[in-house]
Amino acid sequence: MKIAVITGASSGLGVEFLRAAVELCPDIESFWLIARRKARLEALAPHFPGKTLRAVPLDLTDPAALQNLQALLDAEKPAVSLLINNAGFGRLCDFAESDPDDQTGMVDLNCRALTAVTRLCLPHMPAGSLIVNVSSIASFAPTPRMTVYCSTKAYVQSFSRALREELRPRRINVLAVCPGPMDTEFLPVAGCDAGKSRTFDMLPHQNPTRMARLALEAGLRGRSVYTMGAFYKLYRVLAHVLPKALLMKITRC
Ligand SMILES: NC(=O)c1ccc[n+]([C@@H]2O[C@H](COP(=O)([O-])OP(=O)(O)OC[C@H]3O[C@@H](n4cnc5c(N)ncnc54)[C@H](OP(=O)(O)O)[C@@H]3O)[C@@H](O)[C@H]2O)c1
Repeated sequence: MKIAVITGASSGLGVEFLRAAVELCPDIESFWLIARRKARLEALAPHFPGKTLRAVPLDLTDPAALQNLQALLDAEKPAVSLLINNAGFGRLCDFAESDPDDQTGMVDLNCRALTAVTRLCLPHMPAGSLIVNVSSIASFAPTPRMTVYCSTKAYVQSFSRALREELRPRRINVLAVCPGPMDTEFLPVAGCDAGKSRTFDMLPHQNPTRMARLALEAGLRGRSVYTMGAFYKLYRVLAHVLPKALLMKITRC
């Protein structure tokens, strides 16, 4: 059976990735939706009539959850033709004043779980499959006060690019998606919703429905990195050429 695995599918960009995948990948028979909030995952089914949605409630920072996912994959042996590693969170704060568990939790979810889920799914991925890893514009340059978050997203970029080369002989594409701010639960969770950060308030906010669709189209076309919109494409180029010390004066949140 051909399936898609989508992490962080209970809200925001994850739900939009589900919507885009249902439209753009009609041969996928079942969608495995991973997040902690089971009720949210189960509530999605009526919105996608005729599709098989499977709620897989897991806390991906819990090593036992990853064992459960491995057991499920081993037992059912699906063909994972699409993997979307989307679960992630950020925090806007001074690192030295922050909750230590929160900071390492970001590494656990944004890096460790993404790496583990990818590794667990790969034996089940046939030629022609696609892995979409959600990075961020925060990966382009160090971002003071989002120090750990931007570092985790830089990991996602680097991991995705190198893995893409490794998987080329297997004809599996890997795409890193780099969204700018989107009005999802991410912003209040990170503490950068309206009025909390001048930088976030000033930056153009992006539409998650459009982001998911265009990113998935780019991945299916074989692209390696997707950044939406001229503003953030220009920022990506500038981040390559400008000195990091100058960039950090601009990116400070
Ligand atoms: N929104 C933005 O401004 C923005 C910008 C750039 C990049 N991004 C990235 O986009 C991705 C999606 O974020 P979003 O904007 O859609 O925010 P969101 O609405 O807060 O979605 C985050 C998703 O991750 C899941 N999640 C959180 N902790 C988890 C855990 N321990 N185990 C399993 N699932 C977990 C959440 O579900 P549960 O709470 O039910 O577990 C939720 O489904 C993230 O990787 C984020 O870093 C967002």
